[in-house]
Amino acid sequence: MKNLVQDIDLLQPEAPGTEESCGYKVSEEVNTGKRRKLYIESYGCQMNFSDSEIVTSIMQKEGFDTTSQPEGADIIFLNTCSIREKAEQTVRNRLTHFNGLKRQKPELMVGILGCMAERLKEKLLEEEKIVDLVVGPDAYRDLPNLISEADAGQKGVNVFLSREETYADISPLRLNSNGVTAFISIMRGCDNMCSFCVVPFTRGRERSRDPHSIVAEARQLFAQGYREVTLLGQNVDSYKWSPEENNKARLEKGGIANVVNFAHLLEMVATIHPDLRVRFSTSHPKDITDEVLHTMARYENICKYIHLPAQSGNSRVLEVMNRTYDRDWYLNRVDAIRRILGQECGISSDFIAGFCTETEAEHQDTLSLMELVKYDFSYMFFYSERPGTLAAKKYADDIPLEVKKRRLNEIIQKQQAHSLERNKLEIGKVQRILIEGTSRKSDQQLQGRNSANKVVVFDRGDLQKGQYVNVLVTGCTGATLFGEVVN
Ligand code: SAH
Ligand code: SF4
Ligand code: F3S
Repeated sequence: MKNLVQDIDLLQPEAPGTEESCGYKVSEEVNTGKRRKLYIESYGCQMNFSDSEIVTSIMQKEGFDTTSQPEGADIIFLNTCSIREKAEQTVRNRLTHFNGLKRQKPELMVGILGCMAERLKEKLLEEEKIVDLVVGPDAYRDLPNLISEADAGQKGVNVFLSREETYADISPLRLNSNGVTAFISIMRGCDNMCSFCVVPFTRGRERSRDPHSIVAEARQLFAQGYREVTLLGQNVDSYKWSPEENNKARLEKGGIANVVNFAHLLEMVATIHPDLRVRFSTSHPKDITDEVLHTMARYENICKYIHLPAQSGNSRVLEVMNRTYDRDWYLNRVDAIRRILGQECGISSDFIAGFCTETEAEHQDTLSLMELVKYDFSYMFFYSERPGTLAAKKYADDIPLEVKKRRLNEIIQKQQAHSLERNKLEIGKVQRILIEGTSRKSDQQLQGRNSANKVVVFDRGDLQKGQYVNVLVTGCTGATLFGEVVN
């Protein structure tokens, strides 16, 4: 089967909330003789990609096969992202492109799903004439209904945000899967009101998914040959599930603890099988607990990698961002990671350059935080004002674009140097790698990741994806480690 992931490095899965710069994913060709064809293009973060798998599953039951070519589709879905202006612009441009297709085939249906649908609602129907359906992230169960209305000529909008929906009972149809690594959504929404962020408005209130359904999904994946799951949420450390709160029957005696927190959930998934690796993303610095770090330390198969977005290294800016931690708190969390999990644990971050009111000295604090932590990797952005957010209401977007870009560039330069420095520390070490597939550069080589989430490339030999191998690291760039198989 063709690899239909465009411009995206499958081996560097994006954290929740990271978007368009790395491209988008399209549905793959699945032909089971169904009546109609769905083409779905997904933008934004891994949670959105994971939602597309839920949407595809719902659509398959409705009699749709998927296609990788918009030209052959009866219905086109764009699962969209609103995190920065550029993400929305990309989707608007795509719609212009699809105009031509609709002209040739007037019965073609076009749906906007995801965060842009939720943010813009009916307005999207007015602004983009090509659009027939606008469906928010909590309304995917309503798709069959909306589609039959659209078949009858009625454009449809459902942007209802739920307090309960977790799609726990829907088995995602995993598209573009390498058959080795999979993402599992464990919660939806976000209750943190970071002042720059649109997610609480597009995804609604935070809610956690029933742990039994998470464990069952992970077990099934393992049985199907998957060897790694990544538990996804905007803020996984605030995962919390209790039967009462979730209005479910009490758990039977001898079952799991009454309240399941993230550390418990991690343990439940880690004990499925020692050969099933567990990752998670994203951790919020205000919530990550020592209990989680100790659980990570206890299980070899919980990968030693934490995405811990700092956003800024300056306490005043963090306050204006409403991140609810300061520089000292953040550094204390990094110390805890190093104390409990050691120097080898991978740490990555997100940074926003040029947030409202940020001074030059405050920007220097971000650079100095980076020096102190020495991140393995970061996602870096300049601030993009989002309508309706707290920052848009309260503060002027007062840093000129050239200044934002220059500051961002300084952050990127530093990160590149640190990524290389951190990777060089791996040279000479033997690492356990889960093979994920053929290297992007040569079909004579394979690639996989080490526990700390670094991509490692080595000769194919007679190895196959899904196997674990020990690799001696012999060289590196800032992005990749190279090595030789030693077992
Ligand atoms: N829940 C995650 C982040 C989700 S959004 C967390 O709290 O860490 C992913 C990243 O996009 C954020 O960490 C932030 O760095 C960036 N981001 C969010 N809103 C932005 C905006 N308005 N402008 C620029 N970057 C933004
Ligand atoms: Fe946005 Fe903050 Fe929630 Fe992350 S924690 S999704 S940055 S509001
Ligand atoms: Fe994700 Fe973009 Fe929505 S980052 S949650 S798809 S705004």
